[in-house]
Parts: sequence; structure tokens; C-alpha cells
Amino acid sequence: MSNPWARWLAVHDTALFQMSRKAGWDAFVNAAPRPDFPTLTLAEMADLSPEEAEDYGEARVVWNTNPPTVRTQQLVSAYQVIDEVMASNRRDADKLRGSVVIDAEPYLGKTTIATRYARDFHRRIYRRYGHTTAEGNQRLPVAFVPLNEGITLKGLNQKLLEFYGHPAARRGSRTELTALAIDCVASCDTRLIVIDELHFVDFAGRHGTEVSNHLKGLANELPVTFIYVGVGLRERRFFDEGLHGDQAVLAQTSRRATRCPVVPFSTSTDAGARAWATLLATLEPHYKLARARPGMLTDHADLLHKRTQGRIGSLATLLERACARAITTGTEVLDADVLSSVRIDNAAEHLSQST
Ligand SMILES: Nc1ncnc2c1ncn2[C@@H]1O[C@H](COP(=O)(O)OP(=O)(O)OP(=O)(O)O)[C@@H](O)[C@H]1O
Ligand SMILES: [Mg+2]
Repeated sequence: MSNPWARWLAVHDTALFQMSRKAGWDAFVNAAPRPDFPTLTLAEMADLSPEEAEDYGEARVVWNTNPPTVRTQQLVSAYQVIDEVMASNRRDADKLRGSVVIDAEPYLGKTTIATRYARDFHRRIYRRYGHTTAEGNQRLPVAFVPLNEGITLKGLNQKLLEFYGHPAARRGSRTELTALAIDCVASCDTRLIVIDELHFVDFAGRHGTEVSNHLKGLANELPVTFIYVGVGLRERRFFDEGLHGDQAVLAQTSRRATRCPVVPFSTSTDAGARAWATLLATLEPHYKLARARPGMLTDHADLLHKRTQGRIGSLATLLERACARAITTGTEVLDADVLSSVRIDNAAEHLSQST
């Protein structure tokens, strides 16, 4: 007979949707939050059979690994910039639209910001206009296109067509693919296209110039707002389109795009320290451990900042591993010991040792 945790896992185990396909994106957009389940006391845990203990442990790992998205200051101010750009994009289709560029160092929550914003937008459009376009096609308000290394113009169009599940994604010449991509976007009434991992484009190289011109072309042709997401895009010359010196002022991207930086949490000011403490306090109640206590994270704010350099991605990894360890070792609490001993990402490890 299955136990409550096995039943919970059967429905709410790790979600495997592929967001770069319309079906996966749809699953992401419509995923309901996981329902909470009671955290057992140590005495209750002692009464579990071995299978129950195993399933309860597994359910807790899934739960602990998926904290809710916190409305951090970084997320709120990025939303504000995107909202503003989207507002001016209510211009009729004959006028050019601006784009947003979420440009920051790794692991600061860029993809989270872009996908959560796009998800809210998708839901809003569905609520207002329904699932079908005036022409009777499936409405897809958002397309999500993560790039990969060495992406070419053809590859970009293929990725876009793959999102729409277009059968010609793997065939066709460059021009045909461009025409098809434009057709998909227009017929599904797509309003927002998120292009993630844009740093894979080498803007100073030939492919990069082509991709950059193509993106401008799509923006000219389509009544769509683009959100570009990537690491170090300014340094990679995305804005000046790889042009040098005087030529760089001619780069149109620089005029049309609004850069939205995302910064790590800093504890060097009072306001910064407060924001970090608030983040920890917001996350704290999420974790299911038998000895969890209020303050188990906020009491270690400095330690956690030092280990993660205020990066939300490194913090998320640290906390999920610390919880997994607290469960396996039976300590059932996050304390200085476990928070300082679990290994996290390489960059954070390296930097926390050198400061
Ligand atoms: N607002 C948030 N609330 C809670 N957790 C967050 C938030 N933003 C990011 N995270 C956590 O940080 C992890 C990394 O975030 P994300 O993938 O968005 O960063 P990124 O800047 O896109 O990273 P990369 O540079 O590797 O692409 C996420 O998997 C999530 O666990
Ligand atoms: Mg990312």
C-alpha cells in the first residue's frame, strides 16, 4: 500500500518539461505550485517504516530543492524595466519596438527573471484573449529560445521553429527558414520572444554579425518584444554589434535596446544587508527539517554571504545541498557546521576562499 509521500511524489516529482518547446513551455506556464505537506517531528519520523522513511526523505528533497521564486529587489526592478519597454511596445505595428537586455554575470537569476516575467505575461494574454487567435490558430504569446554554443543564423531560425514544433525546422534554406519563423510568430500572435544564453553568439565574428542583423530584421518585421538574456553582453559587444571606434555609434542595437543589469546582494550597506537578511528570512520557512528553527539562516547571514558572494544561484545550491546533508546525517537543521562544509559551485568556492 502506498504512503502519502509516494502518492505526493507520483504527481509532484521533479518536473521534466522542456521549456524550449511549446508543449514544455505550456507545462511550465500552467504548473500549479506543489502542495505543501506536514513536516514530521523526530518522534513521528522514528515511527516510519523503512519504505515510508525513504519516500518521506525523497519527497522532502524534491520540496527543499524547489523553493518559491522570491520577489527580490533585483527581480522587482528588472520587471519594472521590462514593463516600461513593453508599455512603449503598444505602439502600432508600423513603428519600431524596443528590446530588453538582461545582462549580468553568471548565476544571478537572469533566466529566472525572464522566464517568470514571460510566464506572467503568457497567463495574462490567455486570460484576456483566450487560447485561439482571431484566425483560429493556437495562440502562443511567448516563445522561449535558449541558444547554444556557436549558434548561426540558420541555427537560430531552427531553434525558433522547433519551439513552434514546425516540421521544416530541420530542412530548408536560410531564407526559407527565416520566412517560416516569421510566419510562425505572426500566425500564433506571439508578442514576446525570450532569447536566453545570448553570450553564445560571437558578435565580433561573421556569424555574430549575421545573427545580430537578423535579430534586428525580425524586430523590424514583427510586432514582438525581445528579451535577450546573457552573460557579459556589453563586454561581448552585443550593443555595438561588434563595430569598432567611430563605427560603434552607428550600432542600432545600442539605441533600440534597454539594458537591465542584475547585481549580486551586497552587505556593505545597511540597505544591502537588510535585503540579504530578508531574502534569507523569506527562504527559511520553506525548508522541511525536523529541527528547523526560525533564525537558522538569518543567524548565519554573514557566513552565507561570504560563501556565495551574495549570488542567489549559489545560495540556492548551497541550501539545497545543506538540506540534503541535514536529512542524510540526521542533524535535521541548518547550522554553521553544515552551511560552511557543503561544497557548492566552483566559482563561489574559489572566491569565498580568496576573501
Ligand atoms: N528570485 C529568485 N528566488 C528564488 N530562487 C532564485 C531566484 N532567482 C534565482 N534563483 C535560484 O538561482 C538559480 C539560478 O538562477 P538562474 O538560472 O535564473 O540564473 P542565471 O543568471 O540565468 O544563471 P546562468 O548565468 O547560469 O544562466 C535558480 O535555479 C534558482 O534556484
Ligand atoms: Mg541563465
